[in-house]
Amino acid sequence: MSRAHELERMKEMKEKLLEAGGDEKKEQQKKKGKMTSRDRIDSILDKKSFIESFPYITSRSTDFGMEKHRFPGDGVVTGTGLIDGRQVCLSSQDFTVLGGSLGEQQAERINRAQNMALKTRTPFIQINDSGGARIQEGVYSLDGYGKIFRSNIDASGVIPQLSLILGPCAGGAVYSPALTDFVFMVEKVSQMYITGPDVIKAVMGEEVTHEQLGGASTHSKKSGNAHFHCKDEQECFTLVRKLLSYLPSNNMEHPPLVENGDSKSRKTPKVNEVIPEQNTKAYDVRDIIDEVFDKETFLEVHKEYAPSIVVGFARLAGRSVGIIANQPKVLSGTLDINSSDKAARFVRVCDCFNVPVISLVDIPGYMPGTVQEYDGIIRHGAKLLYAIGEAVVPKISLILRKAYGGAYIAMAARSLGYDRVLALPCAEIAVMGAQGAANIIFRREIAASQNPGETRNAKIQEFQESSMNPYVSAAAGFVDDVIAPEDAREELIRSLESLVTKHESRIERKHGNFPV
Ligand code: HXC
Repeated sequence: MSRAHELERMKEMKEKLLEAGGDEKKEQQKKKGKMTSRDRIDSILDKKSFIESFPYITSRSTDFGMEKHRFPGDGVVTGTGLIDGRQVCLSSQDFTVLGGSLGEQQAERINRAQNMALKTRTPFIQINDSGGARIQEGVYSLDGYGKIFRSNIDASGVIPQLSLILGPCAGGAVYSPALTDFVFMVEKVSQMYITGPDVIKAVMGEEVTHEQLGGASTHSKKSGNAHFHCKDEQECFTLVRKLLSYLPSNNMEHPPLVENGDSKSRKTPKVNEVIPEQNTKAYDVRDIIDEVFDKETFLEVHKEYAPSIVVGFARLAGRSVGIIANQPKVLSGTLDINSSDKAARFVRVCDCFNVPVISLVDIPGYMPGTVQEYDGIIRHGAKLLYAIGEAVVPKISLILRKAYGGAYIAMAARSLGYDRVLALPCAEIAVMGAQGAANIIFRREIAASQNPGETRNAKIQEFQESSMNPYVSAAAGFVDDVIAPEDAREELIRSLESLVTKHESRIERKHGNFPV
C-alpha cells in the first residue's frame, strides 16, 4: 500500500468514527431532544481540548450475528479534556450504536477511562445513554458492569465522579451512577429504573409510564437519586462545569480559590429582617444564604428532595464551602429520614474533597411520629451525627434561632466536633422548646395553681428567659461567641480563615461502620 493510500485509509477510518450508527439513527436521537455523544463531550469541555482514547476498539463477539454489527468505538466515546483549564476524564455512550448497549469492549473502554481518571487524579464524568447490558454479549457485559462498579468504588472519595443520565439507564446499569458523587438528569430526556414499565406491569400489575417511573422529576423529588434536575442538556453541561469549580481535582488538593469581589466586611442587615421575632414563624433560609455568602455563588444540591434541609456549595471570600441549613418554611425545619440522608451524604462529599462545612441552624428537633419511627428515623438520623462526627474538614455552625435536642447536636454541638459555634442573640438552645419543657418540669406547680393557664405561660416565659438564651451555652463553653446578625458574614469569614490550616486525623482502622 502506498503512502497516499495509507493516508487515505486513515481519513476513511476517522470518518467512520464520526458516522457512528449512521445519519438515520442520529436524526432519531435529535427528534428525542438528545444530542449525539460527541456533541455532548464538546459542549462540556473547553473548546478543542478533547483527546480521544481507543477510538477503534470494537466488539469481539460473534454470537447472534454480531460480527455483522461492528462499530469502531463500540458505542461509547472516551478520553480526556479540560474544564476551565483543569483536566477531566469522560465517557459518553452513543445510543446510535446498538442503543448504546454495553458489551465487553464498551465496558473495557469505559473502564480504561475510569482508570485514567484515577491514575491522573482527575474527575471522572460519565454520560449514560444506553439500553443497558448488551443482550447478545450476555455474561461478558455483566462482567463489564462489575469492572465499572469496582472502579467507581476504588475512585470513591479520591476523585469527584459525576453521572449524567442523558437517555435511558436501565437495569443494573443504574448502579454505576448510584455509586458516584453526583447524578444529573434532564427533563423528558433521562430515565432510570431497575425494571421498566412492561416488567412492572407483568410482575406487579401496576401501570406506570417511563417518565413517571424514572424521569428527572421522579428522581429529583421522590427518590433522591438525582442531585440536579435540568431543563435541557445545555443547562446540564453548564451545571457540571459550575459544580466542578467548587471541587478540587482529587482528595489531596484544595478547591480552587475564586475571587469574586464581594467584600469580606460587607454587613448583613437582612439576616435580622428575615428571621421573624415570633419563634414559630417560618422564613426561607435561602434568603439568609443569599445575604451572607458571596453574591450569586450558591449552587443548591438536591433542591427538590427532602426540602426541610437546604444543602449546597457557595463561596465565602472566594473559598468553597458546603452549607447545610435547616429550612423553617418546610416542616418547621425538622430533620426527617430523607433530610438526614441528604445532609449526611452532602457532608461526606464535602469531607472527601476538603470543602469546609457551615451549618445554619434553626431546628426544633428530629421529626416525631410512627411513620418516621417505623421507617427508621433512628438509624437514618444517626447518619448525620456520624457524618459530622467523622468529618475532619473545618466545621462551623451559626445558630440562627432554635437549636433543640438531638438535632442541636447534629447541627451545632462542639462535643460532636464543630470547630466554632456562633449564635445570634435570638438563639434558643435547649433540650426541647420552652412549652414542652415547662409542661414537664413545672407540672405540679401548674396543676396546683388557681389559674393553670396563667401559671403555665409564666413558667414558659421563665424557662425561655433563664435557660434557653445563648449566654447560658456560651458560659458553659458550648457557644464560642454571640454575634450581631449584621456581622454574620464577617464573623463566618474570620472563623473560616482561622481554620484553613486545620489538621485532624482519625484513629487508624479499616473503616468505620457508617449507619445505613
Ligand atoms: C442490545 C439493544 C439493547 C440491549 C436497545 N438495543 N437495548 N441491543 N442490548 N440491551 C437496541 C435495539 O434493539 C435497537 O436496535 C436500538 O438499540 C435502539 O433501541 P429502540 O428500542 O429502538 O429504542 P427506543 O424505542 O428509544 O427504546 C429504548 C429502550 C429499549 C427503552 C432502552 O431499547 C429497551 O427497552 N431496551 C432494553 C432495555 C433492557 O431491558 N436492557 C437490559 C437491562 S438489564 P435496532 O437495530 O433495532 O436499531 C441490564 C442488566 C445489567 O442492563 C446488570 C448489571 C449488573
